[in-house]
Amino acid sequence: MAKKKLLVVTGGGDCPGLNAVIRAIVKRAAQSPDWEVWGSIEAYNGLLRTPKEIVLLDSAAVAGIHVRGGTIIKTTNKGGPFSWPVQNPDGSWSAVDRSDELVEILRQEGFQAVISIGGDGSQRISKALYDKGVPIIGVPKTIDNDLAATDFTFGFQTAVQIATESFDRLVSTAESHHRVMIMEVMGRHAGWIALHTAIAGGAEVCLIPEIPYDIHKVAQRLHQRFNNGRGFAHVVIAEGAKPKDGTITARLATEVGYENLRLGGVAYQLSAQLRAAGLTADIRETVLGHVQRGGTPIAFDRVLATQFGVKAFEMVLAEQFGQMVSYRNNTIVSVPLQEAIANYNYVQVDSFLIQTARGVGISFGD
Ligand code: F6P
Repeated sequence: MAKKKLLVVTGGGDCPGLNAVIRAIVKRAAQSPDWEVWGSIEAYNGLLRTPKEIVLLDSAAVAGIHVRGGTIIKTTNKGGPFSWPVQNPDGSWSAVDRSDELVEILRQEGFQAVISIGGDGSQRISKALYDKGVPIIGVPKTIDNDLAATDFTFGFQTAVQIATESFDRLVSTAESHHRVMIMEVMGRHAGWIALHTAIAGGAEVCLIPEIPYDIHKVAQRLHQRFNNGRGFAHVVIAEGAKPKDGTITARLATEVGYENLRLGGVAYQLSAQLRAAGLTADIRETVLGHVQRGGTPIAFDRVLATQFGVKAFEMVLAEQFGQMVSYRNNTIVSVPLQEAIANYNYVQVDSFLIQTARGVGISFGD
């Protein structure tokens, strides 16, 4: 008898734990022998390309991959079925909607379910495909932890661990040289990584997108620290942080089909602003960048990702389409995709985490 076919895609920026989700889906599916699992290379691109790039994901393909960073089926945060880049005769690029074609390809290939592992943008695509009749289930991923309707996304804790270990390394060099160290971490609109790292590492200042900073208050806090006879200080800043009445530090991307602004470099802006505000101490900047997204996931994320994968397949069996796997109150549940994309998971400025940071003397420059 012909097997039922499940398609798995990974979309958006990569994230530690993607492979652990894929492995869990395949292992759980192996207990339901009437199913087979396929992966499309680079999100839906593999199905939309000629020739198609789809691979069978069997036990051999996923053996041991839970330990590996990245995604064995690749990913992309450019274009997509609703805005596929095409080059015009004059060399410029425009986008076409290939979503109906994708729906037809999924039907022709006999896929009876799709699991899409991705962040905000990917889940929007999932919801739009679901509205076109695709039986789809979402799995939330992003190191930024900015996806609503789940307490945590996998990959976030690994990014925090990498940032905290980097922070710890900066402490000894800052102390030796009596310097201000500014460490920039990822976080476009939400300061989760910065906030967790600042608390875990013991920063003096933490600057996040949700709390625009007053540079004079930041400078004052750092002055105070030097006047106390402790001649070094640490600032953690999220890439999307901005001063009061100021703008984010970003540049336009030139890559075809890339719709995001490219962030990164706010640490250097902050350094210049602190100089202008009269801080005389030596300042050094570290931009962690994509090192936060690479490498092996920590155990927490492997466990969370594995739970997400098993749950996602069980939702396929239960035909809970149009839903996303979610981690809430220490258990794994499902939530409507609509709920996941309706809101954005900002750090709540009145949360106990912010209160905790303030309680141990961390300044947000407000
Ligand atoms: O959304 C996750 C994220 O890591 C952001 O924090 C960051 O701004 C962005 O991706 C970088 O994306 P890219 O890989 O396209 O440079």
